[in-house]
Amino acid sequence: MIKQSMMAVLFTLMTMMTATAATLEEQLASYRTQGAGTFDAKAGQTLWTTSHGTDPEVGEKICTACHMDDPHKPGKHRKTGKIIEPMAVSVNPQRFTDPEKVEKWFLRNCRQVMGRECTPQEKGDVLSYLGSL
Ligand code: HEC
Repeated sequence: MIKQSMMAVLFTLMTMMTATAATLEEQLASYRTQGAGTFDAKAGQTLWTTSHGTDPEVGEKICTACHMDDPHKPGKHRKTGKIIEPMAVSVNPQRFTDPEKVEKWFLRNCRQVMGRECTPQEKGDVLSYLGSL
C-alpha cells in the first residue's frame, strides 16, 4: 500500500517535471515554425540587459527595470511595487509553462522597453537564456 502510493507520488512528480521541460521546448519549437533559427542564450542575455534609453514617464527602458539584475531572485514592478517571481526556470519551474501568458507579456514588455514587438528569434533567445540559468 505504502509502496503503491509512493510510486504514485513519484509518477506525478516525474510527469510534472517532464511537462515543464516539454512546454519550454514546445514554446521554442513554435518560434522555429514562425521563422526563427538556432537560439542563442547569449543573445537573449544581451537583449535582457540592454537599455533603450529613458522614458520620462516610465523610467529606464530595460527588462531588468522590473525583473531586476539577478533572474534567480524576485523582481519588483517599478510602478506598482508588486513582487515579480524569479525568471530563472531553475528556481521557478512555473515560468513559461503557459503560452498565452508568455505571449501576452512579451508583447506588452517588448513594446514598452524596445518600442516594438519582439521577433520569434528574440523571444526564443530570451527563453533559452532564462531556461539555461
Ligand atoms: C514595467 C515592468 C516590466 C518590464 C520593464 C518588463 N517586464 Fe516582463 N513582466 C512584468 C510583469 C509584471 C510580469 C507578469 C508577472 C509574472 O509573470 O510574475 C512579466 C512577465 C514576463 C514574461 C512572462 C513570464 C511567464 O512566466 O510566462 C516574460 C516572457 C517577460 N516578462 C519578458 C520580459 C522582457 C523580454 C522584458 C524586456 C524587453 C520585460 N519582460 C520587461 C513586468 C515587466
